[in-house]
Amino acid sequence: MATKKAAGVAQPAAAPFGQGDTSWFTQARFGMFIHWGLYSMPARHEWIRNWENITNEGYQKYFDYFNPDLYNPKEWARLAREAGMKYFVITTKHHEGFCLWDSKHTDYKATQTTCGKDLLRPLVEAFRAEGIRVGFYYSLIDWHHPEFPIDKIHPQRGDKEAREKAKHRDVRKYAAYMRDQVKELLTQFGKIDILWFDFSYPGEDGKGRNDWESEKLIKMVRKLQPDVIVDDRLDLPGVGDVVTPEQFQPGKQLIKNGQPVVWEACQTFSGSWGYNRDEESWRSPEELIRTLVDCVAKGGNLLMNVGPTSRGLFDYRAVARLQAYAEWMRYHSRAIHGCTAAPEGIKCPPDCRLTYNPQTRRIYLHLFAWPYKTVYIEGMPPVAYAQLLHDGSEVALRGLDDWQKERAEICGISSTALAITLPQKPPQTVIPVVEFMLK
Ligand code: GLC
Repeated sequence: MATKKAAGVAQPAAAPFGQGDTSWFTQARFGMFIHWGLYSMPARHEWIRNWENITNEGYQKYFDYFNPDLYNPKEWARLAREAGMKYFVITTKHHEGFCLWDSKHTDYKATQTTCGKDLLRPLVEAFRAEGIRVGFYYSLIDWHHPEFPIDKIHPQRGDKEAREKAKHRDVRKYAAYMRDQVKELLTQFGKIDILWFDFSYPGEDGKGRNDWESEKLIKMVRKLQPDVIVDDRLDLPGVGDVVTPEQFQPGKQLIKNGQPVVWEACQTFSGSWGYNRDEESWRSPEELIRTLVDCVAKGGNLLMNVGPTSRGLFDYRAVARLQAYAEWMRYHSRAIHGCTAAPEGIKCPPDCRLTYNPQTRRIYLHLFAWPYKTVYIEGMPPVAYAQLLHDGSEVALRGLDDWQKERAEICGISSTALAITLPQKPPQTVIPVVEFMLK
């Protein structure tokens, strides 16, 4: 059992439902989230049915005309690999209920649309061929299923008549449907590395573990694929190989019972998860790269989302951002893959992040703002050599000279700090990194 787990990482004290294998996950650090479904057609958010109270009938036109004729998952997989992403997680079914694979438990699936194809299988194959691990997102919520009771987030929540008509709905039948579908996902596509359930909202007029029958579900999952990493959204204490902050960054490394926690932030390029044509809030490549560094510096992963169009392509704005990752990762991937937070006691200088590879014993200083010539690092273990990572050019190492030592205290620097001198002009890379080889 011990070998399955990421070294030195906190796991629930008791894991009554078993644990997934996170040993590869904490090395991988960077993955691609893909939100793809019928909502790529209205192209104004994947929650559109909820926001605009769209009925099954009102939503039917998207099913009728769905036809991603330009779909080429090999292209997606190549872009992901080049960006340095080591795994992906695809919405096999989102809250709208539409399934990308040829599930035998529903007709609400890609094979029944004009496109007539299973969209999931070729995707899994294409990503595997690029050496990328496979994750399935599966929505616990289903606004299309006839046995899914109308609740506070359902599109028909405000429609008294619809609620009345839906009174007979039996959530137990829906829970069985979910198990049947998850069984397909875990038995027909080979080894699945991640299963990403989304999400619970227990309490009045909501849904949680009793509705999903989470216990039965997780027991089945563990039986079918004992190593699969399961997220923390089943509303079942003791289940959650990974903590999943969404649309925010933790303030610091997450620690539980004195051990680092396995966590993964999921973030978007522009706010929506599904393709959103008119969204103007796209993040800059620099911010996106900083977010990746920030995750690793706090001992976590980043799952960065892409929302493909209904023609089956990555939008040009998404491609540009993936390419920005690729360009930066080409030179800096070893400051990300296999890395984690720096050992305690090393003080991160202002406007910087530190990452650390415990295997190679190298420390990486990511400079979010170019400093005024000198950077002081307090608590740094003895360093043998340092270089700028993008071009492997030496960075001069020195302690503080006598003149500086005299003034160190008044300037808020410990007299034992390591000082490095950087060129006056920043290098041509979005976030420059200094690599330190420890003695
Ligand atoms: C939320 C949303 C959803 C998205 C997910 C990703 O829970 O319901 O649209 O798929 O977050 O984490």
